[in-house]
Amino acid sequence: MIEIKNVCKNFGDLSVLKDISMTIKDKEIYGIIGQSGAGKSTLLRCVNGLEDYQSGEILIDGVAINQKDKNLLRQQQKQMGMIFQNFNLLKRLTVYENVALPMKFWGIDTKSEASQKKIMDLLKLVGLEQKKDARPSELSGGQQQRVAIARALVLDPKILLCDEATSALDPAITREILSLLQEINQKMGITILVVTHQMEVVKQICERVSFLRNGTVLAEGKPEELFVHPIKEVKAFLQEESALLPHEGVNIQLFFTDKTDEPIITMMARDLNIDFSIVWAKLEDFRSSVYGSLVINIKKEDQYTVLEYLDKVGVSWEVLK
Ligand SMILES: Nc1ncnc2c1ncn2[C@@H]1O[C@H](COP(=O)(O)OP(=O)(O)O)[C@@H](O)[C@H]1O
Ligand SMILES: [Mg+2]
Repeated sequence: MIEIKNVCKNFGDLSVLKDISMTIKDKEIYGIIGQSGAGKSTLLRCVNGLEDYQSGEILIDGVAINQKDKNLLRQQQKQMGMIFQNFNLLKRLTVYENVALPMKFWGIDTKSEASQKKIMDLLKLVGLEQKKDARPSELSGGQQQRVAIARALVLDPKILLCDEATSALDPAITREILSLLQEINQKMGITILVVTHQMEVVKQICERVSFLRNGTVLAEGKPEELFVHPIKEVKAFLQEESALLPHEGVNIQLFFTDKTDEPIITMMARDLNIDFSIVWAKLEDFRSSVYGSLVINIKKEDQYTVLEYLDKVGVSWEVLK
């Protein structure tokens, strides 16, 4: 478990993290999303002890990350693998040697049978056993990130930290890398903390997410709740288009969860015997479920009846201004 409690961090006069708190449970895939400069990378660097902070506490399984005890910090860092946007592979080493590097750093014999098996198993897991003697320059971006993932796992970490791990990849490769992370989470039980500015990443794999802006957590929750029915601040981040709504009548947005399986819209039209038009609709995938929202336009005089009906059938709604 990673517990971040009231963490504040400045760079000189610049306050970069302001009273940040969040708890990441074991075996969870947790996302931190926000625009560039929000403080995401800094927070991640504080979690793995690359960066110190001024106040608050970060605990990994109950033990504080503290720069003063370098030996303890090194042991804690061993339990956290990390991957980055630009892969950070060593160009002169082969794929195999890159994956073996953390072992070398820890004085583990990389030639032992156990080590060789470990490295080859990881290369198999990421689908690159055929490329073990290749250099990073001979690989695509997606393949390089796979090498980095294997390297991050070679010391059997409990936690994998990902800093914009898919931001340099195209959408199809991004989906493949995210599926691989999901597989690693499920098969190996590794907790994954994902930092990203990409909504697709959070939607595809994160069970919970925090929105970070200017070093502050704006909102925390399940992605499907935060994105489908966003609070005002999150809406600004999502940049939802609302300018195209009709000026006549009343526009009502309806929010559907995976529990909504009745044909609410047609039922409502029948039950209330009223006319309305569908202005805008979207369906989105979140991990394995589909969530959606729909904007309908109704006559002003029908507003009360419609809202009462929606409450009765348990659909959440918002009147758009
Ligand atoms: N080493 C540093 N020295 C001074 N300012 C920094 C340093 N690292 C990051 N910052 C500043 O901290 C803020 C947050 O940066 P960062 O954590 O990289 O954000 P993000 O990863 O969300 O884009 C930015 O204003 C950035 O300029
Ligand atoms: Mg960053």
